[in-house]
Amino acid sequence: MAIDISIRLREYAELTEKALDGFLSADSVPDPTLVEAMRYSTLGGGKRIRAFLTFCFSKMFGGSDEKALPFACAVEMIHAYSLIHDDLPSMDDSPLRRGKPSCHVKYGEATALLAGDALLTYAFDVLSENRSVSDKSVRLSAGILAHLAAQHGMCGGQSIDLSDNITSENDLFELYYLKTGALIEASCLLGYYSACDDPNPDVVGNIKDYARLLGIAFQIHDDILDVTGDPELIGKPVGNDERTDKKTILYFRDLKSAESLEYDLTVSAIDAVTDYADSDGPCQLAVWLMSRKK
Ligand code: IPE
Ligand code: IPE
Ligand code: MG
Ligand code: MG
Ligand code: MG
Repeated sequence: MAIDISIRLREYAELTEKALDGFLSADSVPDPTLVEAMRYSTLGGGKRIRAFLTFCFSKMFGGSDEKALPFACAVEMIHAYSLIHDDLPSMDDSPLRRGKPSCHVKYGEATALLAGDALLTYAFDVLSENRSVSDKSVRLSAGILAHLAAQHGMCGGQSIDLSDNITSENDLFELYYLKTGALIEASCLLGYYSACDDPNPDVVGNIKDYARLLGIAFQIHDDILDVTGDPELIGKPVGNDERTDKKTILYFRDLKSAESLEYDLTVSAIDAVTDYADSDGPCQLAVWLMSRKK
């Protein structure tokens, strides 16, 4: 019988957290305050769903936890950086993250900027030192992670998010894919590349379909939680999107219709990968994400 998804998520979160703790050592750094801020925003919280996806897609294609671990940590570092910058006063101006004061509230804006910069860059150091995979796997992974995190992916989405250029639901889906789906896509592809350095285009296509659909569903749920979430559980402010005039899915649809869209996207995401052996991790995760409270 399949192990309960929440137990698997917790086990992989612990594995990731332990490795991140090791990578983010304050030993022999010129300024320990910077590492303290990096550790503050990277350790001790987060669902680690991106890391989980890296482990799952590695295992699905014959990889292993050992091969996937440095890639999973790199993805979580980039995610942590994106959250630090996302919370800055000039972006979402959010004072709370993962149940604690946001990085800039705790350390000041300048250190928060640098902590984000350092996490983004250090992620590629960690990735490139993955000795359990081939050099080609490292090269493929670095290339796709950089591409999907930068102007063609996450940063491009964050830039649109700051503008007032969303006029249709399709614009919004593109924005959701970019700001959220792109890093989810990178997480999945890095898992695959940790297992295989001669990627099959059909497999890559199926993984991209899964990630795109899951990423949009994930951001819909995030936007719903911003309205309906329990402030005790969510760990970030409720109502921040309205306060900052963000157009979210709830601008285009009512709650019920947004939830049914999330469900349909999740089913389609599962369809994209369900025929692969050992796909229960990504499939169960997709279902679990629809009921998450944070
Ligand atoms: C929050 O991501 C940012 C979005 C892309 C919506 P998560 O909900 O995965 O945040 P953590 O890592 O669990 O805190
Ligand atoms: C976050 O979207 C996307 C990235 C951080 C790239 P949100 O701004 O909705 O995320 P939260 O709600 O602050 O976590
Ligand atoms: Mg934002
Ligand atoms: Mg935000
Ligand atoms: Mg949000």
